[in-house]
Amino acid sequence: MRKPKVTVVGAGFVGATAAQRLVEKNLATVVLHDIVPGMPQGKALDLMQSACIEGYESTVTGTNDPADYAGSDIVIVTSGLARQPGMSRDDLLLKNAEIVGSVAENIRKYAPDAIVIVVSNPLDVMTALVAAKTGFPKERVMGMAGVLDSARFRAFIAMELGVAHQDVDAMVLGGHGDDMVPLSRYTTVSGIGIEALLPPEKIAALAERTRNGGAEIVKLLQKGSAYYAPSAAAVAMAQAILRDEKRLLPASAWCTGQYGIENHYVGVPIVLGKEGVEKIVTLDLTAEELKALHASVGRIAESVAKLGL
Ligand code: LAC
Repeated sequence: MRKPKVTVVGAGFVGATAAQRLVEKNLATVVLHDIVPGMPQGKALDLMQSACIEGYESTVTGTNDPADYAGSDIVIVTSGLARQPGMSRDDLLLKNAEIVGSVAENIRKYAPDAIVIVVSNPLDVMTALVAAKTGFPKERVMGMAGVLDSARFRAFIAMELGVAHQDVDAMVLGGHGDDMVPLSRYTTVSGIGIEALLPPEKIAALAERTRNGGAEIVKLLQKGSAYYAPSAAAVAMAQAILRDEKRLLPASAWCTGQYGIENHYVGVPIVLGKEGVEKIVTLDLTAEELKALHASVGRIAESVAKLGL
């Protein structure tokens, strides 16, 4: 049986760690692409030398040639600059639009049948850019953010309560930015609503820490941003597509009226399977939650307009 092929564009920390997770899970044959000569080749060779120790059969090759995207089932886009301390994800807009725009053109040219998972920031805007530049059907272009933001909320809740991380489920919607919308009403520990377990001030504090989850790490690292959880989230999405898992996850998806959002990419709950975004799930939101979600979309719309999309 043919092994699926996943191309990871950008061999920095997020991209290289995503490649590592993909091969360690034997999910796909991996191509790791970067424009820096030697860098993806070196990291791929290093990963191949770990195969006999870790016991995986998947192969990974490094390349500087986008023609090697050919035949990809999935392309994960991680290219672009990462934040420095004090920068917001939006500060990356123009520079990353240039980089990600050219990646999108290569995807259109060399991997016209791929499903694309965008990881580059500012996430929702870069996802809209890739959709526009590839011209792919919108269900085949999505952004990874909600899985990461929800994972952060879940981690903080698990740490606060001293319970197993796997028992905590959370839903974070909205753009992957300072105005993301953690939905505590849809956050549970083994089916128990979080509001029954923690006082409102504590939940609000954990939601705030989630909004700043990426910045907290940027500040600690001083150089670069998070990559273990972002790569894990992107690979979980790739796995859901490759194995047609029909996972219900939050991700940046093209809304056409859901939640009153017309023609924008933003984080909403989706069903993810072999066709890509197979469905957008519409939850009942309170007026306040909807307002927060629309505010987040407003910020995304401003940046999308700046790029003339
Ligand atoms: C973060 C970056 C990947 O949230 O946006 O850590």
